[in-house]
Amino acid sequence: MDKSVSIVSKNFKKIKVDTIDDYLEVGGYESLKKALSIEPSEIIEMVKSSGLKGRGGAAFPTGKKWEQASKVEGDTYILCNADEGEPSTFKDRYFLEYDPYRIIEGMTIAAYAVGGREGIIYIREEYGRIREIMKKAIANAKAGGYLGENILGSNLSFDIKVVSGAGAFICGETTALIESIEGRGGRPRIKVKRTAEAGLFDKPTLANNIESYGVVTTLLSEDAEKYLNCGTSISKGTKIISLCGNVEKPGVYEVPFGITLREIIYDLGGGIKDGRHFKFAQVGGASGPLVPKSMLDIKYSYEDFKEKDFSIGSGAVLVADDTNRISEFMVTVQEFFAHESCGKCTPCREGNRQLLKIAHRFAERKGEMEDIYKIQRLANIMQKCSFCGLGTAAPTVMVTAIKHFYDDLKENMVENKI
Ligand SMILES: Cc1cc2nc3c(=O)[nH]c(=O)nc-3n(C[C@H](O)[C@H](O)[C@H](O)COP(=O)(O)O)c2cc1C
Ligand code: SF4
Repeated sequence: MDKSVSIVSKNFKKIKVDTIDDYLEVGGYESLKKALSIEPSEIIEMVKSSGLKGRGGAAFPTGKKWEQASKVEGDTYILCNADEGEPSTFKDRYFLEYDPYRIIEGMTIAAYAVGGREGIIYIREEYGRIREIMKKAIANAKAGGYLGENILGSNLSFDIKVVSGAGAFICGETTALIESIEGRGGRPRIKVKRTAEAGLFDKPTLANNIESYGVVTTLLSEDAEKYLNCGTSISKGTKIISLCGNVEKPGVYEVPFGITLREIIYDLGGGIKDGRHFKFAQVGGASGPLVPKSMLDIKYSYEDFKEKDFSIGSGAVLVADDTNRISEFMVTVQEFFAHESCGKCTPCREGNRQLLKIAHRFAERKGEMEDIYKIQRLANIMQKCSFCGLGTAAPTVMVTAIKHFYDDLKENMVENKI
């Protein structure tokens, strides 16, 4: 039985996107029509009662964010985060490439719900070809009267433009993304006030991940019931995941919350490639934890993951077979963080450099017991004192390696110092 579903992702690879016609044929823009026929507060209630948590990684309740934004005076900028810089995460590009109108529609619904006139989709620099698809979709939506002045004859006027930075992981963090749009280097900034009150150009701002907008379009469509019937009582609905690494069938899948990791890897992913054995999975992107074999039956839901100190994050599931060494994986991940740390704060800038050095020692089988304590001390400081989420999450792999793969690390210690 196919364990994946096709609800939020139902248009992926099914419709042509160079014109808006196919999208309209499959019920596109019915959600916006419905939205415009009800009060903004009703839309916010619908989003709240769906239990939707932001799909960008932090899992902040979307309805609550929209409610906060709706209470602020003045026009709110509607930002869509399509930076997708987290390694092993590639689900957002599917929306850009295969269902851009769903996102435009979702952002327009947001504009109506919270009161906005201008929207920006921030697309990572590396998505050059896909960026053009989104730009064309925006132009088509405008030509069809779905963007611009008095949309569908209503009082809503809303337009969207596309912006890209120079290509840095940190630009996915909301305040760094805002700095980047404003023309500065992408570095997180102090939030004196909430983004809802003072975000882009110090104006009220609503920022959501691209999948979050996609889900909102579904919530107002005829698929809402189908979507809400999926999942668990706390994690309602579905999640679009990117499955990659040593599996037979890597790719983007829509899964109902509550499916197990084992089902994701073996039923959807076809199991471990080339008949090898499972060694570990990393969930949620490079900042996510390592999951050992003994925990493969964990349910993929916010509550089950939280109980084990894991997080759903961006929805990435990276699978590694038994040819992979934990210590070499630690090097790969820490190289990424040492490179992507923006350098603004000491715990992250220096902590990542030190963690990388230690990871190298284990990879060269020269680790020491003292290194284990050093990892724990550095992680503790980074988690408590880093300025933004990049620094707080960066030690996760090394911390979970100690927790779940201590024997592997021990094998990579200098023998006489164990
Ligand atoms: C280092 C870093 C990188 C991030 N990258 C992304 C990203 O590429 N896309 C994204 O939607 N959120 C990213 N986030 C999370 C955003 O800061 C923010 O929580 C999210 O875009 C809000 O939308 P949501 O509530 O719909 O998830 C990142 C956060 C951090 C700390
Ligand atoms: S935690 Fe890292 S990425 Fe974030 S501000 Fe500090 S140095 Fe920059």
